[in-house]
Amino acid sequence: MASIFIFILTIFTLLTTHLSHAQQTCTTQKFTNNKLYSHCNDLPHLNSFLHWSLNPSKNTLSIAFIAAPPTPSGWISWAINPTGEGMAGAQALLAYKASNGSMVVKTYNISSYSSIVEGELSFDVKDKRAEYSDGMMKIYATVVLPENGVTTVNQVWQVGPAVSDGFPVKHAFQPANLGAKGRLDLLSGQSSGGGIGGGSGNKKKNIHGILNAVSWGILFPIGIIIARYLRSFPSADPAWFYLHAFCQVSGYAIGVAGWGTGLKLGSDSKGVTYSTHRDIGIALFSLATVQVFALFLRPNKDHKFRFYWNIYHHGIGYAILVLGVINVFKGLDILSPESKWRTSYIIVISTLGGIALLLEVITWIVVLNRKSSKSTKPYDNKQQPLAP
Ligand SMILES: *[C@@H]1O[C@H](CO)[C@@H](O)[C@H](O)[C@H]1NC(C)=O
Ligand SMILES: *[C@@H]1O[C@H](CO)[C@@H](O)[C@H](O)[C@H]1NC(C)=O
Repeated sequence: MASIFIFILTIFTLLTTHLSHAQQTCTTQKFTNNKLYSHCNDLPHLNSFLHWSLNPSKNTLSIAFIAAPPTPSGWISWAINPTGEGMAGAQALLAYKASNGSMVVKTYNISSYSSIVEGELSFDVKDKRAEYSDGMMKIYATVVLPENGVTTVNQVWQVGPAVSDGFPVKHAFQPANLGAKGRLDLLSGQSSGGGIGGGSGNKKKNIHGILNAVSWGILFPIGIIIARYLRSFPSADPAWFYLHAFCQVSGYAIGVAGWGTGLKLGSDSKGVTYSTHRDIGIALFSLATVQVFALFLRPNKDHKFRFYWNIYHHGIGYAILVLGVINVFKGLDILSPESKWRTSYIIVISTLGGIALLLEVITWIVVLNRKSSKSTKPYDNKQQPLAP
């Protein structure tokens, strides 16, 4: 019984923390000169962050790359690879602390693993400088993009343990070091203008967002509300069951389609992996699939295992509910559509939460009345509508 209150509390806590905290770490990072960048990304490896602003008219990209070198005398590096993926071909900016204590930024033309030459890059780099504080190094630079109208680049980033005679010592070869590369969409992460309603490049993401928000974020919660509350009214039997099944099965169908678009987006975006969003998505798909099979394994109402089946079915149902809502917000953080989309979803889910709360109170009143008016009869436990 208490579970529904805990659930509603969880949802509201989630919503309020989402409203008051930025999800990404990079959004709270500040720069000494109060410089502002229009986008930022928590890079998936090596505790690294990239902030950037694209200036399409000048074809320049201003960046601030932040990373933690393995040691204070180590180095950090961020590169664009105009010719391929990974290190071979990368045009790198590299920063470290010189022996006189000041931070230096150098540029390296890495044409192959064996040819790392300090010198000019294949594109112009302006205003490069670096800072070091609290264990984090920052590289600032403005690069003139290799081609006009470029909106995606292959990026590579890296950290290394030391610098010897002005030359960076080889980095580690851990999975995180080897994975620190990929495509960067310079237009994504836009807080307005991009996302829903934006250009055709965002279309797939928007379809993915809408399918999943409707299924996991709206239909599943409605189905759960129907199952939980309509059931307590004898006149709603068996209509509630069909409504519930309809919501969950159509939610599942749309959700699976949305999940498929997510897998496609994931495999398309090699550079930036949103592992939490992806993992929750996979968990949701698995739980929901188990839930659909549960329908076929449902024991009869009076079967002695029905009680355990109910616990299992309700447990997984609430898990899907909570994970689904969390993942819609994770997705909104990634897609960063215009704020009205997030606001709309918050309104929808809060309304559903409010309806659930109201129905919870009404159900209690109905159940208590029924109990007192039938107090001569022994209470039939199977009629108890609220036993999760
Ligand atoms: C410190 O050394 C770097 C290179 O070793 C040099 O470029 C820089 O000018 C030096 N800074 C000062 C303040 O001497
Ligand atoms: C980088 O190195 C490669 C191979 O040595 C060379 O062909 C290329 O011209 C170099 N790029 C620049 C900008 O110097």
